[in-house]
Amino acid sequence: MNKVKLENIDIAYDDVGSGPSVLLVHGYPFNRSLWTEQVTVLKGQYRVITPDLRGFGDSEYSDDGSSSMNRMAQDLALLMDALNIPNAVIGGLSMGGYVVLAFYRQFANRVRGLILADTRPQADTEEGKQNRFKQVEQIRADGMGGIADAMLPKLLTPETVSKRPEVVKRIREMMIRTRPEGAAAALLGMATREDQTSLLAEIQVPSLILVGRGDPITPVADSETMHEKIRGSRLVVIEDAAHVSNIEQAEVFNRELKSFLGDVN
Ligand code: MLT
Repeated sequence: MNKVKLENIDIAYDDVGSGPSVLLVHGYPFNRSLWTEQVTVLKGQYRVITPDLRGFGDSEYSDDGSSSMNRMAQDLALLMDALNIPNAVIGGLSMGGYVVLAFYRQFANRVRGLILADTRPQADTEEGKQNRFKQVEQIRADGMGGIADAMLPKLLTPETVSKRPEVVKRIREMMIRTRPEGAAAALLGMATREDQTSLLAEIQVPSLILVGRGDPITPVADSETMHEKIRGSRLVVIEDAAHVSNIEQAEVFNRELKSFLGDVN
């Protein structure tokens, strides 16, 4: 693990392999270890950078209490500057996808390709925002345990929950190790994020969209919308997967990822 100070906060990241750069951004409330399976298969051909977003994993959080998607995207641009990476294929899962779209809006010329996994372009609905504010209160009062229990059945299929205890344990541990302050800041950031639907038609780079068939958080219909609007994009619906499709069906996810990256590079 490496650390770099960006605008007064330490951001942790892994930087492995060599070749064209691929930057992968985790979702909420996870950390860079979300991408372990992808790093393992890509590092032979690519330079793979996996940061912990501000407030997650080994990265610090900022005291001002909000981690906006734009700000997290700016962190990624600063990280790329610090690592001398002019451009990269940039991918994100769920909240990572919100950050990636915010990155494209601000730094399109630094993006060679996009990977949008189990994510969506829309902003939160009013009801969605209220839920985030309730979660912030819950986390501040009780920590991450309750959130982890509530989220788990939406992250994985019932089959995985009952038959793959090691996957359940890994995902749960990622969630409960997240610092409450960092999670709360990201919830406020997600609640106030911009709607990126209008950006989709402006995307000019090769784009891969992946989604678990049974994803209840960012359903297949959201990925279909992105596929319709992003010119030339590729859509892959992954069977037997819910929200964390890159772990649940890592083999299929990796096959599609490698094939896409082979076409981009
Ligand atoms: C995530 O996986 O990043 C979150 O579930 C996204 C969200 O809550 O909108």
